[in-house]
Formats: sequence, C-alpha cells, structure tokens
Amino acid sequence: MSYNNIKIFQMTMEDFSNIKHILLHDFDDFWNVQTFEEELKNENSYYLVAKIDNTIIGFAGMKIILDEADIMNIATRKDSRNLGIGSIMLEKLISIAKERGIKKLMLEVNEKNINAIHLYKKFNFEEISTRKKYYDNMYDAIIMQKFL
Ligand SMILES: CC(C)(COP(=O)(O)OP(=O)(O)OC[C@H]1O[C@@H](n2cnc3c(N)ncnc32)[C@H](O)[C@@H]1OP(=O)(O)O)[C@@H](O)C(=O)NCCC(=O)NCCS
Repeated sequence: MSYNNIKIFQMTMEDFSNIKHILLHDFDDFWNVQTFEEELKNENSYYLVAKIDNTIIGFAGMKIILDEADIMNIATRKDSRNLGIGSIMLEKLISIAKERGIKKLMLEVNEKNINAIHLYKKFNFEEISTRKKYYDNMYDAIIMQKFL
C-alpha cells in the first residue's frame, strides 16, 4: 500500500453504503449502522473518508454546535492501522474545524483505548475530566479538549 495515494473526501451516503456492512468487522467501529447513518444525515455533522484509489480505509467525523465541535468518531481499517492514516484524518478534521470558525474541539475516549489516546495527545488534546465507569459500567471515559 502506498502512503502517498491517500486522499481525503467529505463522506457521502454512497461511501456509507459501501462500508456499512463491514463497519464492525473491518473497522472495529463501536456504533451501530443506524446511529452512524443518523449522524451522517445530521446537518450539524461533518464526516470525511480517507481513500486509497477507490477503497475507503478510514473515516472521521465531528458534530458542530456554534463555535465548538465534538469529535464523534474516528476509525482506520484494521489492516491499515499505525501507518499514519488516523493522524492524516485528524489533521484534516482540525483544519476543516478551523476553516469553519470552530474555537474548541472536544471528545471522549475510553481509558482503555491507548491508541486513540496516543493519537489525540499527539495533536495536543488535553485531558480535562473523566466520567467514571462510563463504558460498560467498567471503564472511565476521558474527556479531552483542544483550543484552535
Ligand atoms: C485510534 C485509531 C483511529 C488510530 O488510527 P491509526 O491510523 O492507527 O493512527 P496513526 O497511524 O496515525 O497513529 C497515531 C498514533 O498512535 C500510535 N499507534 C497507533 N496504533 C498503534 C499501535 N497498535 N501500537 C502502538 N502505537 C500505536 C502511533 O504510534 C501514532 O503515533 P506516532 O505517529 O507518534 O507514532 C485506530 O486505532 C482505530 O481505528 N481504532 C478503532 C476505533 C477507535 O477506537 N477510535 C477512537 C474512538 S474515540
């Protein structure tokens, strides 16, 4: 796989149709298909896809509320992780947020999700609080923010 071939596009419903049946298996995504589809249709949401040739290898999205946005989801296809694709997508999401006048990005992440926490810290997201036992009544959610 050539790293240089990665292109980022705004996610379309056609993109979603192409990946909805492989979300859990290939992307390890934690949302069900219906929740994802509703998010995608929400006028305050912005989702992007990373493609190599015509194949979707990642997606990421945020929900914009006035001058703040919540990063709702980011996932790289399982067989393409740790190659920098998550970083490319997050960088693009941050730059789109800046273009849209967003002042602050927020997110929450499972304390067990070391890879995601590493990615967010790399982009200078700061931990501001935790929600105890938020996931499966067992693991804390870490709330992070970044001012743009
Ligand atoms: C989190 C996720 C999107 C990262 O995507 P990715 O394409 O692997 O990201 P990158 O390759 O840009 O890696 C980002 C950083 O995390 C680190 N990292 C990623 N995978 C890693 C692994 N398996 N082991 C160690 N470090 C890892 C990398 O070292 C990299 O840091 P570096 O550039 O300083 O080396 C991916 O692991 C994923 O899809 N997880 C499942 C979905 C999920 O949990 N999303 C987050 C919801 S809050």
